[in-house]
Amino acid sequence: MLTRLTPLFFAGLASAAAVAHRSVDVVSGQTSTGASTVQFTAASSGFDGPKVTNLNSTTFDLWYFDVLAYDLSASVTLSFYTADPGALFPQAADVGSADYAEVFVTTPDGDLWVAVVPADSLTIVTSGDGSSGALAGGNATWAGSSDMSQYTVTINAPDQGITGSLTITTVAPAHFPCAAASSMAGQSYELAPGLGWANAIPDANGSVDFMLDGTPLSFQGSGYHDKNWGSKPWDTLLNSWYWGHARLGTYSLVWFDFIDPDGVEGSSIYLSENNVIVASSCAGNLAVRPVDGDATFPPTTQTGLPNEFSITADIPGQGTLELQTSQSGILVEVPGLSTRWAGQISGTLGSQSLTGIALYEQFTFVS
Ligand SMILES: *[C@@H]1O[C@H](CO)[C@@H](O)[C@H](O)[C@H]1NC(C)=O
Ligand SMILES: *[C@@H]1O[C@H](CO)[C@@H](O)[C@H](O)[C@H]1NC(C)=O
Ligand SMILES: *[C@@H]1O[C@H](CO)[C@@H](O)[C@H](O)[C@H]1NC(C)=O
Repeated sequence: MLTRLTPLFFAGLASAAAVAHRSVDVVSGQTSTGASTVQFTAASSGFDGPKVTNLNSTTFDLWYFDVLAYDLSASVTLSFYTADPGALFPQAADVGSADYAEVFVTTPDGDLWVAVVPADSLTIVTSGDGSSGALAGGNATWAGSSDMSQYTVTINAPDQGITGSLTITTVAPAHFPCAAASSMAGQSYELAPGLGWANAIPDANGSVDFMLDGTPLSFQGSGYHDKNWGSKPWDTLLNSWYWGHARLGTYSLVWFDFIDPDGVEGSSIYLSENNVIVASSCAGNLAVRPVDGDATFPPTTQTGLPNEFSITADIPGQGTLELQTSQSGILVEVPGLSTRWAGQISGTLGSQSLTGIALYEQFTFVS
């Protein structure tokens, strides 16, 4: 259950412009039996704050972070969930609480480290557009600035071999599924019916300092932060999706290409250059397609994995974006559900050549 402790607290400084709306929410790990209230229309602030009030067994709200090493040698992906397993998908972690953090770390040695940190509650402080969260007991936290320019995430799971922190500093402005995050009030957070998405940090300079069973892992890379939430179980909201983000020189790219429960494709494309949005739209004719391996489209829980993806989109004023991945490896694979890759990505934007790195995934929910 989500309890609003302080609806509005004026962290008032000298001028009205410095006043940031602040609220504190505590999400219990035991979900409510009543109906949730799920927010899909933006208010004037609170972009990265909680969107589900009175969390129940079929609604979910989560915060996601990642950093991919510039040389592709290592990665961290980390999520804070408020969700019962039945609100996500059949293979979701069941830790006896809706509140938990889950972290995946890949190392230069090719090892995969996983830790799941449960807690009785998650406290989220929303200040301006940014949010900060702490699992009860403090074994996993995130702390964001009110303008969403910087986030630090910590994890303390020594019994599972993982402790450490990461910091991401934005290089790409926030966006809604189909629009930039400027002039927020009234904008839609709905990527697909019932599925919310707020991308606070589409790309960042990231710095990771972890200890893995006493061995340090430190690296710099491209970082990212978003949140998803839903009014129904996640696996009923979409049939499949392709999502990813990339750093291509001075450009930052985020894509979402999905098949809805009626079999209809929907998409969102975001491109910024030097911290200025070039495109943020659902009308960019984005097409993400599997290439090589099992290139069945759309993918299902029964199909195999492609080796690569092609990404094409229309970027107004810049021409056609045409990219293809070149995978360096699979970061995480849950057969029949999801696979996350890292790799190089290259191609063209109009007449310009682009090359960089990407972290991307495929989810399949139907057979
Ligand atoms: C949870 O809340 C949603 C949204 O209000 C509602 O549609 C759903 O029926 C609720 N689920 C349960 C199990 O009460
Ligand atoms: C935090 O992590 C430590 C080490 O794993 C553990 O002993 C402790 O019980 C955890 N605290 C909570 C509140 O879960
Ligand atoms: C991010 O890193 C790039 C490359 O090192 C650097 O040019 C840029 O100033 C950094 N931006 C921020 C906001 O730290």
